[in-house]
Amino acid sequence: MKQIIIKGNKRLTGTIRIGGAKNSVVALMPAALLTDGVVKINNVPSISDKDALVQIMELLGADVKCLRGSAVVDSKNVHNELVPENLSRKLRASYYFMGVLLGRYKHAEVYLPGGCNIGSRPIDQHLKGFSALGTEITRDGDKYILDAPDLHGADILLDFASVGATINIMFAAVLAKGTTRIRNAACETEIVNIADLLVKMGAKIDGAGTSVITIKGVKKLHGAQIKVIPDRIEAGTYIIVGALTGDNLVVSGVVPSHLLALFNKLDDMNVKYKIVKDKVYISKATRVKASNVTTLVYPGFPTDLGQPIQVLLTQAKGKSKFKETIWENRMGHVPHLIKMGAKISAHSTTAIYSGPTELHGEEITATDLRGGAALVLAGLLAEGTTIINDADYILRGYERIIQKLSKVGANIEIKEIS
Ligand code: EPU
Repeated sequence: MKQIIIKGNKRLTGTIRIGGAKNSVVALMPAALLTDGVVKINNVPSISDKDALVQIMELLGADVKCLRGSAVVDSKNVHNELVPENLSRKLRASYYFMGVLLGRYKHAEVYLPGGCNIGSRPIDQHLKGFSALGTEITRDGDKYILDAPDLHGADILLDFASVGATINIMFAAVLAKGTTRIRNAACETEIVNIADLLVKMGAKIDGAGTSVITIKGVKKLHGAQIKVIPDRIEAGTYIIVGALTGDNLVVSGVVPSHLLALFNKLDDMNVKYKIVKDKVYISKATRVKASNVTTLVYPGFPTDLGQPIQVLLTQAKGKSKFKETIWENRMGHVPHLIKMGAKISAHSTTAIYSGPTELHGEEITATDLRGGAALVLAGLLAEGTTIINDADYILRGYERIIQKLSKVGANIEIKEIS
């Protein structure tokens, strides 16, 4: 287990550079298996979820070379075999091998994916899409066997604008016969990044980034090159760090238009910041106003920033209300914030924050990736020493977080404990 130790209450100054988006790269890497050509992915973040994907890709026969922020994937020797349970369970994004293997081989055998325990995380919408494309689905315990000798286009209406289902259906549909239309598709910026790669590989896709995506199947895809978009969640997390502890902190490499919901909320809370091109300048906010935050699908307030922004709610004057609408179990950080001095009354997916409250260091435990990030933010703000157990969760999605925060003046270290 890894433990993060923070001596808090330091003002952070300097520049934090944002890396490539986790939720893009975890789909772009499997997408490389849709061709026997070479796919080069630039701006690849150094996160543990990416490492887990590489293990699966290598097991399937891909040659993956990761060097200085790029991944070069040669899939000419890829063979179709069962993605084993221990690897599938390492991360949520292992479900992308279903769509990719189905597209390329019309047959896939994959175990249920893993990932943070933030809700029941069903994959029924993925399966509904595959089934509409002509796939016969057999479940054997936690293993899915997907068979589609005649993979064909279909009109699919998702019950919920699921990010994973939208991407997975695109993966299968690009190599299906005929036209597929995904309605109520997710509109997240990562989907546009993934569609861009597929189009560069020769796929025919229209409407990515809107709620209707049209895919005309092609026979074969070829190699291509893509850059991973900047991670809007990493950027948002460090922007909130700036609002809590910044002394003219600069968060650079940001695409501001991807973070409108966060900026809108910061305006609401009277938090001042300045945007100059891809840089956001932000300092510790005084007189933070209470606000209500409800997470929504893009372009609403992102669920993945829901936990980090709750640390800012502890500093707002008056009562703030938080409501999580995407995941049913994303409030694991709350008891730990309470232990650190926050005044929170939480029930299921809602929480009322009464502030402002001073936070103090405690020994606490990360329960998931973004909840763990929220505890880091709380530790940076708190007086005294904060010890965060199970910090491995945080490394799934925040590249070099210790180095990035140390560089701007945080007193933070990570160690392996038994
Ligand atoms: N859902 C279903 N059935 C499905 C698929 C989803 O009921 O077949 C439900 C989920 O249970 C959840 C909601 O729909 O309640 C949203 O799920 P979605 O499919 O959109 O999420 P995902 O693709 O599994 C991705 C990110 C998450 C992020 C969500 C929402 C990856 C690997 N994960 O998950 O990222 O929260 O989209 O934006 O891309 C994170 O980065 O911390 C994280 C959890």
